[in-house]
Amino acid sequence: MPERIFIFDTTLRDGEQSPGYTMNTQEKLRLAKQLEALGVDIIEAGFPIASDGDFEAVRQVAETIKDSEVAALARANDEDIDRAWEAIKHAQNARIHVFISTSDIHLKYQLRKNRDEVLKIAVSAVKRAKKYSSNVEFSAMDATRSDRDYLCKVFAETIDAGATTINVPDTVGYAVPTEFGELIRYIREHVPNISKAIISVHCHNDLGLAVANSVEAIKEGARQVECTINGIGERAGNASLEEIAMILRIRKDIFDAETRIVTEKIYPTSRLITTITGVPVQPNKAIVGANAFAHESGIHQDGLLKSKFTYEIMTPESVGISKSSLVLGKHSGRHAFNSRVKELGYILDDKSLNLAFKRFKALSDMKKYIYDEDIVMIIMDEVYKVPEKYKLLYLTVTCGNTTIPTATVKLEIDGATYQDAGYGDGPVDAAYKIIKRLVKTNSKLLKFSVSSVTQDMDAQGEVFVKLEEKGLTVTGKGADTDIIVASAKAYINALNKLEYMKQRLK
Ligand code: KIV
Ligand code: ZN
Repeated sequence: MPERIFIFDTTLRDGEQSPGYTMNTQEKLRLAKQLEALGVDIIEAGFPIASDGDFEAVRQVAETIKDSEVAALARANDEDIDRAWEAIKHAQNARIHVFISTSDIHLKYQLRKNRDEVLKIAVSAVKRAKKYSSNVEFSAMDATRSDRDYLCKVFAETIDAGATTINVPDTVGYAVPTEFGELIRYIREHVPNISKAIISVHCHNDLGLAVANSVEAIKEGARQVECTINGIGERAGNASLEEIAMILRIRKDIFDAETRIVTEKIYPTSRLITTITGVPVQPNKAIVGANAFAHESGIHQDGLLKSKFTYEIMTPESVGISKSSLVLGKHSGRHAFNSRVKELGYILDDKSLNLAFKRFKALSDMKKYIYDEDIVMIIMDEVYKVPEKYKLLYLTVTCGNTTIPTATVKLEIDGATYQDAGYGDGPVDAAYKIIKRLVKTNSKLLKFSVSSVTQDMDAQGEVFVKLEEKGLTVTGKGADTDIIVASAKAYINALNKLEYMKQRLK
């Protein structure tokens, strides 16, 4: 019987706290639903004490998610634990995750406490959390640089205090696989009550070993792995969920362990994060990178044509990359479109499906092949959008190397039509200046990036922007075969979000 490995996803906490990956509540909720559909066992929804925004996001995730446990992070103190519980108390399955450092370096320089003091704090924190929930995880931060016997003592006493999961974080990404595996074995052999808790691991990727360390730990008895989609996270990131899930699926001969992950939903989930954050995945990233299944060399292509097993250890379909995506185009009907939408992991009601299908038809008039990435963009644009105070009615630009870039923009604002024209440093700058003037926004553009949704010549350009106004930060996205139009859509999308958030905060 294969061992069951619990997947604890911390994309919304460790992932989200890394630069460039900030998400608003609505985006976190959307991602949490996707993680639930992916089959994640535990979703760490955030760190409620960190800010009111974090608290609210965790609260909404906890109220919405039914099939996964929802965890909230807390330092080992009363205030953090109470706030964490307040945020997740309505979850079907709520877990409080408390942590404190156990390494001498952290004790001396960060906590300024001795080992006995930290042990007491850890125990009383677990006891407090236990009063709220039977499901308590305790993490010994910087475990891999901690004295092993002290670490075992802390784990033994926190298990006695009620911890049901004990987590071994390689906080600074320092461990190497053999050493990390040995540590897990040591814990198993030296914590007398270890059978009362699940051993979890939480590896960072500073030396590029987060996944290798995590799977080595599984061999030595870890039954929970903490990871993130696309391996996002602090500094070099966390262990990547998709890599761990596929290692366990493909190398059953070595691991004899299984997860509940629906691997066919991996790619749509990865794509959702890039769509939400605007941060692309490196092309050679295992499992989800654009080149992960691209065989360029003639020898490989020849081998693949003879038998796909010559050079392919897993199929693109097994991770949710549909090869048949090429067949969608101008002649595809509503039914074919909806089947693909479902394959991508989205369930749309009739109204949303009609909207998305209409946009699909318009796009297929401009573009020969419609790829999965295009469909995801359509769904994001048409279905998951905020109320539109501002609508783009018309945009024209003139530009070139011998003319001053000018733009004419017509917008609908609260139902009335406004238009203006002007020039800028380039066509996007000109369009943005006019939009800014018409909308009278005080927001600042923090980030602007353009990428191609797919790789063909008639690909859609995808534009991502980030705006800030009085401490509120929003992202906006737009896609179109014309990148100036995509840029305007992204800007207007962000302005609509900003307006929506301002209204909600009033
Ligand atoms: O890296 C780390 O140590 C953490 C803990 C809070 C588990 O993220
Ligand atoms: Zn971490």
